[in-house]
Amino acid sequence: TSTSASGSAQEPAAPAMQGAGSVKQQISNLAALSLRATVPEVDVEPIVEVCTGKFGDYQCNNAMGLWSKVKGSGTSFKNPNAIGQAIAKNLPACDVIESASVAGPGFVNIVLSKSWVAKRIQDMLVNGIKTWAPILPVKRVVLDFSSPNIAKEMHVGHLRSTIIGDTLARMFEFSNVEVLRRNHVGDWGTQFGMLIEFLFEKFPNWEELGSQAIGDLQVFYKASKQRFDEDAEFKDRAQQAVVRLQGGEEKYRAAWKKICEISRNEFDQVYKLLDVQLEEKGESFYNPYIPQVLEKLSSQGLIEESEGARVLFIQGHQIPLIVVKRDGGFNYASTDLAALWYRLNVEKAEWIIYVTDVGQQQHFDMFFKAARMAGWLPDPKEKKFPKTSHVGFGLVLGADGKRFRTRSTEVVRLGDLLDEAKSRSKSELLQRLTENGKIVDWTDEELEQTSKAVGYGAVNHVFYLQCRYADLKNNRLTNYTFSFDQMLSDKGNTAVYLQYAHARICSIIRKSNMDVEELKVSGNISLAHPDERVLGLYLIRYAEIVEEACTNLLPSVLCEYLYNLSEMFTRFYTNCQVVGSPEEPSRLLLCEATGVVMRQCFQLLGITPVYML
Ligand code: ARG
Repeated sequence: TSTSASGSAQEPAAPAMQGAGSVKQQISNLAALSLRATVPEVDVEPIVEVCTGKFGDYQCNNAMGLWSKVKGSGTSFKNPNAIGQAIAKNLPACDVIESASVAGPGFVNIVLSKSWVAKRIQDMLVNGIKTWAPILPVKRVVLDFSSPNIAKEMHVGHLRSTIIGDTLARMFEFSNVEVLRRNHVGDWGTQFGMLIEFLFEKFPNWEELGSQAIGDLQVFYKASKQRFDEDAEFKDRAQQAVVRLQGGEEKYRAAWKKICEISRNEFDQVYKLLDVQLEEKGESFYNPYIPQVLEKLSSQGLIEESEGARVLFIQGHQIPLIVVKRDGGFNYASTDLAALWYRLNVEKAEWIIYVTDVGQQQHFDMFFKAARMAGWLPDPKEKKFPKTSHVGFGLVLGADGKRFRTRSTEVVRLGDLLDEAKSRSKSELLQRLTENGKIVDWTDEELEQTSKAVGYGAVNHVFYLQCRYADLKNNRLTNYTFSFDQMLSDKGNTAVYLQYAHARICSIIRKSNMDVEELKVSGNISLAHPDERVLGLYLIRYAEIVEEACTNLLPSVLCEYLYNLSEMFTRFYTNCQVVGSPEEPSRLLLCEATGVVMRQCFQLLGITPVYML
């Protein structure tokens, strides 16, 4: 049974369709209008999914649920299928939907109009990919990511947090959400006493030192720790130093600042390499807010005394959340509570997202619950925002099954990791170019830039793939085995494969003698061939993919999309001749649109696209 969507009377006029959110959102809007007309007495949210079968492009799945609500209430509907028929019939007349039909117990299969799909693509080509930005239900997000610790090792987990966090930020920004990118560096705590005392001892002239003079801060940290562990007198002095620092003594503040500055310079080098923007608001920033926040919690009766410490007991957890240590000092948890309070009340963020390794899951779980107990966050059953989320990821392992490190040194140098990826992709590239006799065409600079784009891109890409938020809930997060060979392979779902796919599209466009810029305005996309239609439809699904990646905090969704898009493009290109065919103008526009969408995905993933490979 097929009902034409156009021509049904009495419906309200369809809303303006171009550029109003993702396709899925638009279909949902239409479905909502139909549901209101079909069952005015019931208030339901439309359930719209992408079709997996071949009977439609999208599916509205409300009929079955509605049936269980209205049956026995004197409704005129005989069964769920009849409700489905009515939903299909009541879809407002508009240029989006070509037809709707009902399958099985009441699935409403919706077929999009080819000309609308084509129009949407052309509109994007003319007005830019931003017109495809999804509409998200939040305006301001705090993204807490990277967040290494001063003077301690910035390990590969921090790199992974940096890369995942940056991509999440870019995805939200693309969706017109304001993102406060926060580097919650560990710049406060008892380790500073020991570092400061060691600085005084080793470098009496510390005030005049430049940022390089101390040398490697991680080595410095290790040495001072050793001194701390071995010498009781030093330990004593270090503990005094903490008190004097926290009491605000000038000299100690200055030494602390110096150490932070040196670390910051190191971190900034990595951020610069990766082109990541971050605003540092370290643990020390929130320190002044802790007393008042704890005071509030106390007055709510949430804080108790336990074995000399002050703690919050949290349902479902054996051990309490310590917020004041036995020695009276604050800790990681009290800082996080103060930071959350600040982010909710001063920064007015609606969604606060933390990106760290999965080892910290319990910490986040507990302090999120504490915040809920204090009434800072609504009951998720009633309201969705404000809310907090922890994006966790597993460990990065080397081929030996141990924690990943570059070379055989104890620490992982992040710069080294990126360098190695670059130099490996450079030698791959050289080999390929020589085989193809192309080496003469490339300047040193082109070679350098291309291998950087390919190598760094591969590192980025590899860090998204195994970050599965959904799995995290079930504690099934796997560790990730790092392999340069796998990551730099040009087969399978790798960044290198995607770069080749993109470069090929660019070369097709170069080979044609047509002016794509001119075509965008004057040409027409037709989508007559089935493979053209499939590709076109997948292109316009871009917005809902970004929407899904944002909603579920999963950059890997974007990687999967890119991979599928490349495969669909290949099918189209294999079955539809582009250059030299009568359809060349239309098909060239499809190539260009695929290129634009791929580049936008790359941009969100922090990967520099390559135009020639
Ligand atoms: N500095 C911490 C670490 O290296 C990560 C901080 C994450 N952010 C936070 N608000 N707790 O493990």
